[in-house]
Amino acid sequence: DMALVAEGERVFKKCAACHQVGEGAKDRVGPVLNGVIGAPFGHVDGFRYSKGLLEMADEGMVWTEDNMAEFLRKPRDYIKRTKMSFAGLRKDEEIAAVIEYLKSFSE
Ligand code: HEM
Repeated sequence: DMALVAEGERVFKKCAACHQVGEGAKDRVGPVLNGVIGAPFGHVDGFRYSKGLLEMADEGMVWTEDNMAEFLRKPRDYIKRTKMSFAGLRKDEEIAAVIEYLKSFSE
């Protein structure tokens, strides 16, 4: 859905202080987000993730649309002591749109 992807690109401005996605994206405060939907938690080599996120990675967790939505609503509730200092997205529509945007870099 191209309209939702475009809306997600707008929402991603809230993430772009810390994250890059797309061609030439690099780690910043947060890890690069290319391919994140469908990837195991903490898959970016060389990025220093929090202990809480790495514990979930050890449990074999993989990013899906569902757990990503839960995480983005309240990152600190979803990952114990996450390094992601972001309060979360309040609107379901924003969450759905930004996930669609990330999916467009995850195929
Ligand atoms: C981690 C998405 C906003 C900093 C992550 C991860 C995702 C994500 C999917 C996990 C990556 C992985 O497992 O490889 C987003 C989205 C945002 C957003 C979609 C906007 C809605 C931010 C902001 C910051 C930030 C604003 C900085 C203030 C980080 C950091 C991590 C992280 C430091 C590592 C977390 C940890 O190790 O616990 N983000 N993020 N993110 N993000 Fe964000």
